[in-house]
Amino acid sequence: STTTAARAQAAGFAFTPIGIFTDHDIHVPEGYQWKPLVRWGDALFSEAEGAYSPETGVPVAMSDKVFGENTDGMETFEHDGHVLLTINSEYVNPKINLPAASEGKPQTADEVMLLKNMQGVTVLEIAPQDGTWGVVVDSAYNRRITHETQMTMDGPAAGSDLVKTNADPEGMSPKGTMNNCGSGRTLWGTYLTCEENFNGYFGMVTEREQTPAEKRYGIGGESNYLYEKFDPRYDISAEPNEPHRHGWVTEIDPADPESTPVKHTALGRFKHENAEMVQAADGRIVVYMGDDERGEFIYRYVSNGTWAEGEPTDGLLSDGTLYVAKFNDDQSGEWLALTPETTGMSAEEILVFSRMAGSEVGATTMDRPEWIAANPLRAEVYCALTNNSKRGGDAMPVNAANPRETNEYGQIVRWQPEGGDHGADSFAWDLYVMAGNPAVHSDAYAGSQNVTEGNMFNSPDGMAFSSDGMLWIQTDGDDSNEGDFAGQGNNQMLVGNPETGEIARFLTAPNGAEVTGLTWSPDRKVAFVGIQHPGGSWPDGAGKPRSAVIQVWREDGATIG
Ligand code: FEO
Ligand code: CA
Ligand code: CA
Ligand code: CA
Repeated sequence: STTTAARAQAAGFAFTPIGIFTDHDIHVPEGYQWKPLVRWGDALFSEAEGAYSPETGVPVAMSDKVFGENTDGMETFEHDGHVLLTINSEYVNPKINLPAASEGKPQTADEVMLLKNMQGVTVLEIAPQDGTWGVVVDSAYNRRITHETQMTMDGPAAGSDLVKTNADPEGMSPKGTMNNCGSGRTLWGTYLTCEENFNGYFGMVTEREQTPAEKRYGIGGESNYLYEKFDPRYDISAEPNEPHRHGWVTEIDPADPESTPVKHTALGRFKHENAEMVQAADGRIVVYMGDDERGEFIYRYVSNGTWAEGEPTDGLLSDGTLYVAKFNDDQSGEWLALTPETTGMSAEEILVFSRMAGSEVGATTMDRPEWIAANPLRAEVYCALTNNSKRGGDAMPVNAANPRETNEYGQIVRWQPEGGDHGADSFAWDLYVMAGNPAVHSDAYAGSQNVTEGNMFNSPDGMAFSSDGMLWIQTDGDDSNEGDFAGQGNNQMLVGNPETGEIARFLTAPNGAEVTGLTWSPDRKVAFVGIQHPGGSWPDGAGKPRSAVIQVWREDGATIG
């Protein structure tokens, strides 16, 4: 209505917020359009054109020549006049990829290879096509990085006994990246991809007791995917150190298809969501990172060296200190350094078992830290705490930053470093929003003041700032539209104003999908948005559902972020 439009304009939103939807389609505001950019199975190389079948998916021979499954974090780069997208493929759905698999588990080594190839990272070139953007098939930049891609490691844990395997006795040449969830970009124009739920791909063929570290990281038993039955690399009874080679932040140079990705051990090993890089006042590199698990921590890495445009980047992500966050109940906070002195652990152990190091120094248990986004207009950082079914009781008592028991809605915490300096060891924090349902609850579960029946949502997850300083929030929650979630509809993308706290709904996803990953075309006229694990037959209207990156633009050609 006119009133909604006028109110949105007054709050600084350039669009009229939309209502909820429960269908298998995408919805965007009036005056905006969308269409797919690239779907699971779309060819990156002409030899794979037509390889995708709506009935059977992609054959194994073509599985590393197409766009991977379950799109997640992504970034846009420009190189020599070419526009490159780097896009994570987080996880695989065997029932979608393997129509013949019993109980959704692979039965052969070929099926395992197919699934492995559907994860990882895609680098692809895009170019203007029919008034929007399209994939440049056969671009020299196009590349798939999978479980099988040869990598290297740097930082204090590289080459340590903890990361040596039979295949790599030097502990310097890990293979592959997996469960690539959120993303980041370095200030020098490379891509950061973050390994999250890597634990789910390792299993134990010969039963033995789990080590305390395996328990803390959820590694052991039979895996969800049975890779360990067909490839000993995934069998922790044969290769106990292989999981230590996953759970890292990996740097990829999208401009050089021959480059070897680097796993940066200095940034710690946990279920990495994303990696948000900023700079301290003195020029040191700062990376904020969340560990997405109930009761795990928020981390900050600070380099020892400083950097300015044009200077060499050696050592910036391999020589520094890892910190973990303590959120005090008086809304102050501290970064606690993880060192041999503070933890009683060796430098290698601190990095490989960062969770245990964080516990040693008394970090604050959080409600599943997902994406972290830094405000480009001031020194202020936001972290989506998606939800936490285990919050409350003695094992994980509530605290001021995670204030609700059995937190099914989530909240977004933000902090401002002391003196506006990301290198400072203390900060002030507050809750930007507590998600909730004011139609169902009248207590804390109704959410904070900026949550209304018109904009409500649950489980904030993806987040990114647009260049105008607006916070884009993506959700990965309960889309049943029933009970505690009645009136919230499908997962969605909203825009939050950091100044006023106001939040407005911009997009809704097909039922079953989460919205994750957001980047823009270089001219900011098109937003690229990730749609992961859709239901129905989205977006083709028939056949299998296909996770996809979509493009959203304004009919009048104005910028949108
Ligand atoms: Fe892959 Fe925590 O989301
Ligand atoms: Ca996901
Ligand atoms: Ca996520
Ligand atoms: Ca999530």
